[in-house]
Amino acid sequence: MTREKRSGLLHHMPRKKTKGQSPADLIEPDSSLEDLRGAAESCRGCDIWQRATQVVFGEGAPGAEVMLVGEQPGTREDLDGRPFVGPAGRLLDEALIKAGIERRGIYVTNIVKHFNSTTRGKLRIHKKPNAEEIAACRPWLEAEIARVGPKVIVCLGATAAQALIARDFRVSRQRGEMMKSPLAPLITATVHPSSILRSRDDKSRHAEMRQFVEDLKKIARHLPPSALKRK
Ligand code: URA
Repeated sequence: MTREKRSGLLHHMPRKKTKGQSPADLIEPDSSLEDLRGAAESCRGCDIWQRATQVVFGEGAPGAEVMLVGEQPGTREDLDGRPFVGPAGRLLDEALIKAGIERRGIYVTNIVKHFNSTTRGKLRIHKKPNAEEIAACRPWLEAEIARVGPKVIVCLGATAAQALIARDFRVSRQRGEMMKSPLAPLITATVHPSSILRSRDDKSRHAEMRQFVEDLKKIARHLPPSALKRK
């Protein structure tokens, strides 16, 4: 990766729009997860790629029984090219350990595979993907689900839950409910780890972390021993 990409400076240079290649042009029925990861680099299904450093595809165990789905990569993920490796990812790792779930045994991905941002001075500020961008990226997620074949999909936060469960899904009221889905035998949702990082004080952060771990423990009950941490 170039020095400009590593530092994020690239985002302040205009990037040339190339002829669009959509997921429909890039996803082959027999492509493996690795093929998909490579193909997604050329995706121009929406415009977000122009503001991002690189695609951040999902990663994890190919036959994982549980798939965690976040919203989109953050700044750190955009620079590293891996999902959930920044502050929210570290909090997620801590919660998974407390819930007894092996991160290596699960698959972690996002609804949208590029970091969507707006600039404020030199800063890149997270911008929620819109419905069109989410729809444009969906074939990648569906292809990941088809290859991994998880038993449980866990939506992290409202963007994922509203895209995969129901448009009117309310995480505050429905978190932790296990539901059937055409995407996987079971689907559920909990908060996004970055919402815990935004808690107003230590006391509420600890309380929210405890509840997040409880949601993950409920999910752990549906998992085989191979996906659980050995005590
Ligand atoms: N937030 C997300 O939703 N996904 C990531 O990969 C990182 C932060």
